[in-house]
Amino acid sequence: MTVAGVLKLIHRAFPWGKKFLPFPLFQYVMRGFFSDESCFVHLARRRWMRDVMMPSLRHHSSRAVFFVGCAPYTWHYERVFEGSGPDYITIDPMPAARVWGSTRHIVDRVQRLDKYVDPGTVDVVVMVGVYGFGVNTSQDLRETLESIRGVLKEGGVLVLGWYSDTTPDPAEHPSLDDLFVASGYHDLLPRKQCNETLTVDI
Ligand SMILES: C[S@@+](CC[C@H](N)C(=O)[O-])C[C@H]1O[C@@H](n2cnc3c(N)ncnc32)[C@H](O)[C@@H]1O
Repeated sequence: MTVAGVLKLIHRAFPWGKKFLPFPLFQYVMRGFFSDESCFVHLARRRWMRDVMMPSLRHHSSRAVFFVGCAPYTWHYERVFEGSGPDYITIDPMPAARVWGSTRHIVDRVQRLDKYVDPGTVDVVVMVGVYGFGVNTSQDLRETLESIRGVLKEGGVLVLGWYSDTTPDPAEHPSLDDLFVASGYHDLLPRKQCNETLTVDI
């Protein structure tokens, strides 16, 4: 049985449990359950994000790094930002995703990021696996890019990741050209492609 199956059984047996469990304890239990369970964390591209990309973004940022869309395989990234350095803030509209969010987490859509942050104050916004998984239409993407552009400081960076087998290349979207210039960032290349295939046993 999967971890999700076990959690469903527990929830069915103790439906009131979550209500009385303090959130930090609930989060601790969930993260413990899922710490190594998600096969995504072991993928080369995920290890690259954790071990290369995030440390580089931290090193070159002074104020704030935003991470859009939280999942069981993304909460570990906050560890890279522990101690002094830029604030690491997450955003996701699904209330349940707060479990995987950072200490500073916003429950809302990325399109509304500019409602929470002063213009021109953010070093980096990382949005991987959200275009095509919630930000779906051309208009969604336009609103998202406008909101992100508004909060980024001069020279700030958007890291945009997508699944090329299911989602059109956002570089072909007119708003991207209007609002951003394609570039690398210090030791990171302008574009990185990962060709791994994920095999899941069912
Ligand atoms: C595939 S999952 C995880 C994406 C994650 N950022 C990653 O690195 O793979 C997509 C997540 O994006 C969130 N999401 C969907 N629409 C969103 C939006 N408009 N703004 C922010 N997050 C959104 C979903 O709730 C979900 O948790």
